[in-house]
Formats: sequence, C-alpha cells, structure tokens
Amino acid sequence: LRLAAVVPAAGIGSRMQSELPKQYLKLHGRTILEHSVAALRQAQPQLPLVIALAEHDRYFSQTSLVGCGGIQTVPGGKERADSVLAALQQLDVASYDWVLVHDAARPLLHVTDLKKLVTQCQQAGCGGILAAPVRDTMKRGGPQIEQTVDRHRLWHALTPQLFPLLPLKQALTAALAEGVTITDEASAMEWAGHPVLLVEGRSDNIKVTRPEDLALAAFYLETQR
Ligand code: CTP
Ligand code: MG
Repeated sequence: LRLAAVVPAAGIGSRMQSELPKQYLKLHGRTILEHSVAALRQAQPQLPLVIALAEHDRYFSQTSLVGCGGIQTVPGGKERADSVLAALQQLDVASYDWVLVHDAARPLLHVTDLKKLVTQCQQAGCGGILAAPVRDTMKRGGPQIEQTVDRHRLWHALTPQLFPLLPLKQALTAALAEGVTITDEASAMEWAGHPVLLVEGRSDNIKVTRPEDLALAAFYLETQR
C-alpha cells in the first residue's frame, strides 16, 4: 500500500475564540497538531505527511514536528478544501496510490480506528471515511420545526478520510472549479460519482472546535490510552 497523508492545519479557529490558532493550543504539554500527527503515524511512524499551514504561520517552527523525517509543509488556502488540495498537489501520483486526510484539530484518533479504515477500504477497493452514528433526535426547520428527520442511517463525518490519490485530486479540483460547497473529501468524491464507505469509528474522535471541547479532549486523552 503506497500511502501518504495530508493534514489541513491552516485554519484560524474562529469558533475557539483564542488568540493562538487552536491547532497550537496544548493538551498535556503537546500541541493539538502534534497529537493529531502522532495519532496518524501510530501504525506507520514514517508515513509521509504534507501539512498545510496558514500563510503567515509563526508557530509550526516551534513544534517538535520540524525535525521529524517525512514531513513537508505547504501554504494552505482560504477554505479547508483549498488547503487540502494544496497539500495533495505535493504528492506525486507516481509515488503514492492512497492518501489519508486528517484534521489537525482531531488529536484523539485511535489506532484501532485508523487500521479499521485502511483495512475496510482495501477490502472494498474504494475510499471511505470514519463516521459516528447520530445520537440525538434530529429536527429540520427553525424557528419552527418542519420535520423530524429519521436518525436511522444518519452519521457524523469524522476524519481520517482515505481515498485513492488521483481520483481525489481530480474530484476536488473539479468540485472547487464548479463552485460546489466541499466540507470534507467525501463530499467531493460523492459529487464526482465515486462510492465512499462509511466505517464506524469511536465517538471520542472529536474535532476540537469550541472552548468547551478542550476539557473534553484532555479528559479523553487521559482515559483513552
Ligand atoms: N483548515 C485549513 N484551512 C482552512 C480552514 C481550515 O487547513 N482554510 C483546517 C483547520 O486547521 C482544521 C481543519 O481544517 O484542522 C478543520 O477545520 P475547522 O475545525 O473548521 O478549523 P478552523 O477553520 O480553524 O476553525 P473555525 O471554522 O472555527 O474558524
Ligand atoms: Mg473552519
């Protein structure tokens, strides 16, 4: 399996309301980005990695990732999808067949989930994403309820997401050119007509998004491993 990985880490974390971009906030002495990268490389410590950084990032150079082998950085873009595509452009289709895309803001990825995703995608011969079943009763509407949406078969899309490199590059490029709203890699692949597998992952693989997520992430870090 000729596998590489891309980590979008070029966001500003507006919902976190912190001066420091959230991927550089620390959990147990290490930045969230360092946790996310370590989690992604658990199964394969030398996994080649491209990290997309904000144009004027002043923090990456202070992390332990600088001296690490197999890691390159690239300037990200305006939206997450632009950052992912910029990173994918660094990966040669002659060298890699598959690529994992994993948010810098998901430090709690468990190695069992990573292996499960890779195994199931290989068996199915198509791309796939980690996902968690929706728990709450789902409503559509506002301010009045229009409809209760059947929660059965509804999922939260998580990362990592795993796809064949060339089709993903092509799908993302085309979708962005067409102005399609792309919030994860799967949405670009779906739009391009590719099958995408849902692989049930752990619900503690949270994306650190709002201030209250930090305490939860710290708690999961202590209890999970
Ligand atoms: N990301 C990126 N490039 C962007 C926007 C987001 O690489 N232009 C990355 C973030 O750094 C993060 C991941 O995509 O690792 C998921 O995005 P999100 O959680 O939305 O992070 P932010 O966009 O930074 O946060 P917010 O939406 O609250 O501003
Ligand atoms: Mg965002």
